[in-house]
Order: sequence, then structure tokens, then C-alpha cells
Amino acid sequence: MSFLHNKNIVLGITGGIAAYKSLSLVRRLKDQGANVRVVMTDAAQEFIRPLSFQALSGNAVHLSLLDAEAEAAMGHIELARWADLIVIAPATANSMARLANGQADDLLTTLCLASKAPLAIAPAMNQAMWSNSVTQQNRQTLVDRGAVILGPASGEQACGDVGEGRMLEADEIVEQIEPLFNLQALSGVRVLVTAGPTREAIDPVRYISNHSSGKMGYAIAQAALEAGASVELVSGPCALVANDRISRTDVESAKEMQQVVLQHIEQVDIFIAVAAVADYRPKQVSGQKIKKQADKMNIELIKNPDILASVAGLQHRPFCVGFAAETEKLEQHARLKLEAKQLDMIVANRVDQSDGGFNSDYNSATVIWAGGQHVFEKTSKSRLATDLVRLIAEHYTI
Ligand SMILES: Cc1cc2nc3c(=O)[nH]c(=O)nc-3n(C[C@H](O)[C@H](O)[C@H](O)COP(=O)(O)O)c2cc1C
Repeated sequence: MSFLHNKNIVLGITGGIAAYKSLSLVRRLKDQGANVRVVMTDAAQEFIRPLSFQALSGNAVHLSLLDAEAEAAMGHIELARWADLIVIAPATANSMARLANGQADDLLTTLCLASKAPLAIAPAMNQAMWSNSVTQQNRQTLVDRGAVILGPASGEQACGDVGEGRMLEADEIVEQIEPLFNLQALSGVRVLVTAGPTREAIDPVRYISNHSSGKMGYAIAQAALEAGASVELVSGPCALVANDRISRTDVESAKEMQQVVLQHIEQVDIFIAVAAVADYRPKQVSGQKIKKQADKMNIELIKNPDILASVAGLQHRPFCVGFAAETEKLEQHARLKLEAKQLDMIVANRVDQSDGGFNSDYNSATVIWAGGQHVFEKTSKSRLATDLVRLIAEHYTI
């Protein structure tokens, strides 16, 4: 499975003759399993119609910054947060100049300025425009700020000139952006992640569970894989598909999850407990479906094992990262957990937000460790997972 699988890519199209090549790029990105949203400049629309990109990407094309309707749905800030990567292909000399100068005078430049996602730029222009010292200065400014420049290639140009400035082909762009998600910060490290909810049986057809969708845990597992780790995922019931390079074991209850985790834990360097494990389970599990008879019934609950605490308490324990889903006093509760369970790190996130936490594609988090803390603002779960794994890798290797 490609590292682009499930990644959110904003594809910026600017007003160059090579804009038609980006139709193939959308197809190649979709073939890799990426989610693509296209943003076009005004000039780009003179070269190619948005409808083609809409049909190929499966999403409406974003054309205007000052559009009240678009702003309510996927405006520049939403797009900036949604993106795991922004690719501009083709990138005109003009767009590179505007980006280098930090301008925010259309949707594409504004969202680039507003986004923390990495930026990859595929220049496409006449060879004289490309070799012009101003363009080269702009290229250098963008590189110094962390942008990745893809190409350009040399060869015959649409204007008849021969030289450097041709946009890379779609396959070459895909080949060069895929490694941007494969950072190798955890190369050779073995990571075990738990994800999803647990189900605690009441009888053969009923259970107690919670709203965890598994999205955060699966995103963490994917991010660890992309960072070069070998990843074991122990998953509660959820409808997600893990990368086929992740070794996944499905479980139902907290007790089963604990059993599988403890089976693997000796071979693990980092344990990241993302699963929303039920704290309690019914004391009695009825062998048969409980019939509806009495007006009232009580279910006696007993405490489930604390999987994270049981791992953190081992004599030869891995680096332990916990997740704290809180609805109030986020930091205070997370700090108590960090200390009580003697964790190396805790990721606290609010699960009572209307757009964030359980089930959402977005999340924010406060990460706390003995010597400090870091706040990650609301962003896509896959981007947050990449940032969290990077932070975990930094602390693990210290
Ligand atoms: C026919 C034609 C082809 C063009 N091709 C390119 C090109 O390949 N690269 C480039 O940098 N500019 C090219 N330009 C100039 C840009 O379209 C122009 O600089 C425009 O302002 C770019 O706007 P944008 O960067 O907002 O998309 C071309 C202009 C015309 C009329």
C-alpha cells in the first residue's frame, strides 16, 4: 500500500500551459488512495476547465477566496487544516514569486500561508523564466522555508525553446512526493498501537462500548509505519482498514486486548495506547439473550484491567505513551494519569468537541511529559498523527 493512501492532498493548479498534465496527476494520486482537493488560480482556469478536475478528483474544485458559500464549507482555513500535503503543479513563475513573498491574494496563496502542511512545488515555465535570477531567488527562498521543489525537467518546451523548465510527468511527481510521508524517524523501532473501542458483553447480542471510531489509533499506526517502524496494531471493533504492512490483531473486549498486548509486549520498543478501553464490564455475562420481562434491571459492573498501567508496570517496559480522552480539566486529568501510571508521555484530547475527538476526522491535542508539554492545534487526524509520532520519536531516542 502506498504511503499516499488516505492522505489529504491539496493540489494547486496555476496558470501554465502544463496545467493539462495535472489531470493525469489527479488520477495517479487517486490510484495511490489519496484524497485530492483541487484549487485553481484564475489564470489556471483560462487553460483548463475546473469540471475536468472535479470529475477526476470526485470533489468540487475550489476557485475563489472570497466566496461566502465555499467559506462555509471548505474555506481556506479548513483546506489548510485538512491538507497533509500541498502540491502545486504546475507552479508558474508568478505563483512562486507570490509564495516566496508571503502574499495571500488568492485562495491558493492564502491557504499555503495558513497551512502547516508540507509544500511541494513542481515549477513549469519557459527556460528563460526559470533561469532568471529572480525566479532562482524565489526558488531558494522557498527551499530555505522547507518547500520541496520537484524538477523541473529539461527538454523541448511548448514555446519551441529547449532547456530547463518543463513540469515533471505525473508519475515522477508521485514518485517524489511519496517519500515525504516516509520520514524514517523510527527506522528499526518496533511499535505496538492499540486502537478503537472495546466491547464488553452483556449477553450474546448486547454489549457496552463507546464512540471511539479507531481513526486516531489507525492514523498513529500508519504514521509510525511511515516513520520506518515495524508496527503491530491491536484493534477493537471498527470499520477501518489498516495498511497491509501493519500486522493487525482484532479483539473485542478489554481482557482480550490486554491478553494480546501482553503476548507481544516483550518484542516492543514503544507502546502507544490509543484505544478507548472500557473501564468497566458487566460482572455476569448471560449465556442466552436476556428476555424483556421486568420493568427495571440492573447490570452490575466490575473494573476492567488497566492495560496501559499493566504494561508501564513491567520490569522491562517499553517507552509508554498513553492517550487521555477527557471532557473537562484536560491538562489536570492528563497530568494525574501520567504520574499515576508512570508514563513517558500522555496525549490529552477533548472528546466533547462538536468537530474533533471521537469519530471526527479532526483532532487537537496537548502532549505532556515529565519535562514539558506541547499543544497541537486542531488539524486532520492523519497530520496530527504524523506530528505526534515525530514528537514521540524525538523523546524515545533522547
Ligand atoms: C499561453 C500562455 C502560457 C503560459 N504559460 C506559462 C507557464 O508555463 N509558466 C509560467 O510561469 N507562466 C506562464 N504563463 C504566464 C502566466 O499565465 C501568468 O504569469 C499568470 O499571471 C499566472 O497566474 P497564476 O500564477 O496566478 O496562475 C503563460 C501565459 C500564457 C498567455
